[in-house]
Amino acid sequence: MIKTATKAPPDGAVSPDRQIADQTIRSTNPLRAGLAADRNPQACAMVIFGVSGDLTSRKLMPALYDLYVTVPLPPGFTIIGISRRDWSDEEFRSEMRKAVHEFATRPITDDTWDSFARGLFYVSGNFDDPGIYGKLRERLESVDSERGTNGNRLFYLATPPSFYEEISQGLGSAGLVRRQEIYSDPRANGWNRIVIEKPFGHDLESAQHLNMAIKQVFAEQQVYRIDHYLGKETVQNVLAFRFANILFEPVWNRHYVDQVQITVAESLGIENRATYYEEAGALRDMIQSHMLQLVSVVAMEPPAFFNGDALRDEKVKVLRSVVPLNGETIAHHVVRGQYAQGYVAGSEVPGYRDEDGVSPESKTETFVALKLEIDNWRWNGVPFYLRTGKRLPRRVTEIAIQFKSVPHLMFKLTEGQSLPPNVLTMRIQPDEGISLRVAAKVPGAGTKLQPVQMDFDYGASFGQAGPDAYVRLLLDAMLGDPTLFARDDEIDTAWSLMQPIMEAWSDSPWTQSLPMYEAGTWGPVEAELLMAGDRRTWRRP
Ligand SMILES: NC(=O)c1ccc[n+]([C@@H]2O[C@H](COP(=O)([O-])OP(=O)(O)OC[C@H]3O[C@@H](n4cnc5c(N)ncnc54)[C@H](OP(=O)(O)O)[C@@H]3O)[C@@H](O)[C@H]2O)c1
Repeated sequence: MIKTATKAPPDGAVSPDRQIADQTIRSTNPLRAGLAADRNPQACAMVIFGVSGDLTSRKLMPALYDLYVTVPLPPGFTIIGISRRDWSDEEFRSEMRKAVHEFATRPITDDTWDSFARGLFYVSGNFDDPGIYGKLRERLESVDSERGTNGNRLFYLATPPSFYEEISQGLGSAGLVRRQEIYSDPRANGWNRIVIEKPFGHDLESAQHLNMAIKQVFAEQQVYRIDHYLGKETVQNVLAFRFANILFEPVWNRHYVDQVQITVAESLGIENRATYYEEAGALRDMIQSHMLQLVSVVAMEPPAFFNGDALRDEKVKVLRSVVPLNGETIAHHVVRGQYAQGYVAGSEVPGYRDEDGVSPESKTETFVALKLEIDNWRWNGVPFYLRTGKRLPRRVTEIAIQFKSVPHLMFKLTEGQSLPPNVLTMRIQPDEGISLRVAAKVPGAGTKLQPVQMDFDYGASFGQAGPDAYVRLLLDAMLGDPTLFARDDEIDTAWSLMQPIMEAWSDSPWTQSLPMYEAGTWGPVEAELLMAGDRRTWRRP
């Protein structure tokens, strides 16, 4: 048989031979089934603003390569990166290869990398230059025709937050976005979506302003506000645990639960993020976003469906039921602190004010502990204690549901012995899993009781850690599934809960006396006093 020579495709275009080879590489990958069976997105052009930054190198590009290898992403999948660096397409590809090599979970093979890299393109310029959006349009039009992306566009803002509004307006003015209301048919000219990184706003007013500005260009259903906590396997497992088992729902309420404690503890300091952290602090960085998301998934009512609006309706109802804090309750229910020099894991570490880039007079809080009350039928009277901090003794994120003691204990305890109540602990990181503390009889002739742990360990049960949160969330955004992204009313409600605290801290004379805690301890003594006032204590995870 005579073989006809195949004409080389233009640069970046996908040849039919290559498409078949790509499909074979990916469809034979054993990881595909575990990750996302039957979730294959359409070909699209993903435009990453801020592509030379830390987030792209450490998270986005490795996650995209992972998806390309495992899902699979269609052969025409294309990434257009934008930043000020003066890179050619080839230089961009080589920089991204280094990032994927360093941060991806699986080794790179030349075949798959070459195939992936053929879809990488670069546009250099400044976000405040309107000309950059014209250059972007030319690139998008050429990949639409050469790689079959058909007008499907995913814009990703991995930039300093100060550019979110400007870029979205720039895209709108250049006619790069088709506004798609809920009943528009994306098959007509392709779909357009925007993913916006955290932080979304700096306070209530800035978040509302940003929401308004973005919605002049995009309809709400095109906006994907990312909080990577919701992409974590273990956070989604809280939903599975609550709503796929009959066992827990009957006791998941004020009749059986005494208190809920949520801890997000970090042993690290601020690393090289002083500029960001000095502006943000622990309240904005952790409580307003990640920790209120955790409160919502723990406290929400069962949604009728696992989809964007059903889930987010229930989450926002929880936030709306949180009793707003005011001057007096802030003084009694909210504690902040800042770490001083100390020892973490046996090594001496500097105090926050001695970190590079931090003002020696900084009033930024690196620790927050607070008590929230949720005023609804399910949770009335059950305190939710939230605690987060940097330079704490260990890195741990957990949700602990502490149940009430039994109403009557027929067993006689020995002098001085007490029987701790049941606690269900959901560990988000590390050692992902769930454990339940129950009372058991110690073997022997007497009736001695002792608490024991029943453990479910993610790694041991499933044999592998789940994919990084960005893998899940990027795929969801390509598929048009906003379930694990924050809606505008969620963001507004979360900020409105934080606003009185931020105002009290900036107005109050006790700004002058920020409680300090030694690095390597569990926060300032004031946090212990908050609990002592309720005759409770913090867990030591
Ligand atoms: N890094 C993380 O792990 C992480 C985690 C959660 C959320 N986030 C959020 O993700 C966003 C990006 O974070 P990052 O850590 O990647 O920031 P970064 O390392 O500072 O990167 C910023 C990017 O924006 C580009 N850029 C800045 N000003 C520009 C301008 N005027 N015109 C064109 N490009 C410009 C920079 O490129 P050039 O300087 O090369 O032009 C760079 O590519 C932030 O909103 C951050 O809060 C990051």
